[in-house]
Amino acid sequence: MKTHRKLWTLETMRGSRALLVGMVVPLVLGACAQDETERSADPGLDGRAGASTTVAQIDDARIENAADEPGTWLAYGRDFREQRFAPLTQINRESVSDLGLEFVVDVPTAGALEATPLVVDGRIYFTSTYSVVYAVDATSGETLWVYDPQIPKDFNRRACCGPINRGVAVYEGMVYVGTLDGRLVALNAETGAEVWNVNTVIDQERNYSITGAPRVARGKVFIGNGGAEFGVRGYVTAYDAFSGEQVWRFFTVPGDPSLPFEHPEMELAAETWKGGEWWEVGGGGTVWNSIVYDPEFNHLYLGVGNGAPWVRVIRSPGGGDNLFLTSIVAVDADTGEMKWYYQTVPGDNWDYTAVQDMTLADMRVDGEDRKVIMQAPKNGFFYVIDRSNGELLRAHPYSQVTWASHVDMETGRPVENTQLDYFDRPQWILPGPLGGHDWQAMAFDEAKGVVYIPTQDIAGFYSVDAEFKETGVFKRNPGTLNLGTDMRNGFSLVADYLDEQPMYKGNLIAFDPLSGETIWSVEHPFYWNGGVLATAGDLVFQGDALGFFSAYDADTGEKLWSHNNFVAMLAPPVTYEVDGTQYVAILAGGSGRITNFFGSMDEVATMKFGNFGRLYVYALGGDVVLQQPQIVDRSIPEPPELTATEAELKVGEQNYSMLCVGCHGGGAASSGVLPDLRLLSPERHAIFDQIVVDGALAATGMPGFADVLSRDEAEYVRQWIISRAIADRAAIQDD
Ligand code: HEC
Repeated sequence: MKTHRKLWTLETMRGSRALLVGMVVPLVLGACAQDETERSADPGLDGRAGASTTVAQIDDARIENAADEPGTWLAYGRDFREQRFAPLTQINRESVSDLGLEFVVDVPTAGALEATPLVVDGRIYFTSTYSVVYAVDATSGETLWVYDPQIPKDFNRRACCGPINRGVAVYEGMVYVGTLDGRLVALNAETGAEVWNVNTVIDQERNYSITGAPRVARGKVFIGNGGAEFGVRGYVTAYDAFSGEQVWRFFTVPGDPSLPFEHPEMELAAETWKGGEWWEVGGGGTVWNSIVYDPEFNHLYLGVGNGAPWVRVIRSPGGGDNLFLTSIVAVDADTGEMKWYYQTVPGDNWDYTAVQDMTLADMRVDGEDRKVIMQAPKNGFFYVIDRSNGELLRAHPYSQVTWASHVDMETGRPVENTQLDYFDRPQWILPGPLGGHDWQAMAFDEAKGVVYIPTQDIAGFYSVDAEFKETGVFKRNPGTLNLGTDMRNGFSLVADYLDEQPMYKGNLIAFDPLSGETIWSVEHPFYWNGGVLATAGDLVFQGDALGFFSAYDADTGEKLWSHNNFVAMLAPPVTYEVDGTQYVAILAGGSGRITNFFGSMDEVATMKFGNFGRLYVYALGGDVVLQQPQIVDRSIPEPPELTATEAELKVGEQNYSMLCVGCHGGGAASSGVLPDLRLLSPERHAIFDQIVVDGALAATGMPGFADVLSRDEAEYVRQWIISRAIADRAAIQDD
């Protein structure tokens, strides 16, 4: 993979405009790090000491009035309303055919880039894997600084979905980033020097991680965390933007009932959790993506995640809604006191997070002017809610939905499809755990009243942990996943039910939130594609899994322009203007995880070409030409001898399905980003236990599993991988 990358990078260089970040960067690497406690304890320090006084002088008024500066991208969703709609028109339906690549920044990672770049004062701020922050020149790509928080690479194991990061916040001369290991860091926006650094994690024993972008407003930085799949309790914390001191913390689910409630809302929530020992596993409810500030009401909206474990009879056997799982919770931004909440899925049973991006708008609904908040959470219904009070206004399906027939507008509750109960037998249910829509951003054109959503119709395979069904007991698995589903036997179970699988496809849709009508829909060849940008040039931009970055006519969905980047894209594009030129920028680099279960991936860029971290920036007349990288040989070599018994292979399969599947793929077939273990070389086979048990490759992101895997068990995993290689080689030769 390395050679391909190098070759390709050199070929894409053109004069000084395409830059190799790794070669020219003056590394900052926290050289000016300051001890946070020391810093915030010093009353003599001006609150802004350490912040840049020259660049990124962004305050609440600038973010609120971002419409006045169409050339910038000041916050995650562009401004507080997070519509991801840019009022720029130089690139439009007519001119877009002349759009070309202006420059490329090579970002040295093989992982997924998911960040929204922010563009302020002619600089682009973005993040890479392991929470590394970049500042580059917005017209040349020249690297200005890099900040690396030095996350140990085996922290990879504590992040369900890769060591990814969705971006920074910029405010009052500082850049804020949440790190994979759960710290919140403030940097000087001009130099990248660390100003303060706080630990946001309440329990280091648990697998908390931060992948979401912080939000800033009212002199505070707001951050949540992830980790529900491993078993954690969710919360959001507000920190003083200047000192890093904690201002308030809002828990999203109740904790151990023998301890006092942290805040009054927990008392209300606790009444909705019945029986069971959810706090042992954690309860979930992590706010890992969307937090939106609303200056009109001084509300902060928290998008709350799924339950931990997923299966509700394990989590709360006595029933109950399990507040505040899968809810949008509005709190006072200054105090963290709750104002209202709306729960999308009472008693979540399917990993239906409500953490997807939230958008604020003004809208005429049934003859009345409303201030609304909108979300397309995983569960497949598109919600329009009055943000003054939480009143539900609309809940139309935006993707294929089988778990519920509809949302009852009287009660605001979904009507579940009881035929798809998965306790007695496994079921395919739509949407699955990837959601009808996930974190890949949607965009809203307020004038048209249309939302553009990257959707997918991928049924999930749901089953209940075999041991729990037999014994009624679920023990927390420290150091690994705690879903409560039958992960262990997933591979053979899925094979048994494969002919019942309803569908897997991906779309870009234009959707009317009020009528529920899909105005147009573009079907993608693969189901896991990128976030969306809409512009006043009547264009909708999106990158896809095959490596194409495309512009669609906002009114018809017609593809007007497309550029082959040869890299899968998930991140949402942004657009900005410098010196009269409009640019469009997108981070590329696909995901190595969760997507390699269904359907042919032959044309997916990660499979064809491998994976590369890149920032691509386009403008009218841009003429950088990319060479097609070499196609990766994925043929399976002759595997070593299979010596294990059937029983040993079964143990190998079960451990693989619990511990390895998330990174190395279903059936040991990788999606092209992380190594495909069926292709393992004889040399690697020989040191398999050193890699898998002792962590010989921990420094490059392959963690050791000595805590959960004996040497014999590791050998059974290896044997099972050999059996997969033999089976798949035979299948390919038969074709
Ligand atoms: C958190 C993600 C993650 C998990 C979980 C994981 N791996 Fe890995 N694994 C990696 C990464 C990243 C590499 C590549 C490391 C490198 O290039 O040095 C890797 C490499 C390997 C290699 C070497 C591959 C080669 O071609 O050199 C083996 C063998 C391996 N993993 C086995 C396993 C097994 C067995 C499990 C489950 C017990 C497992 N891994 C779980 C991330 C993971």
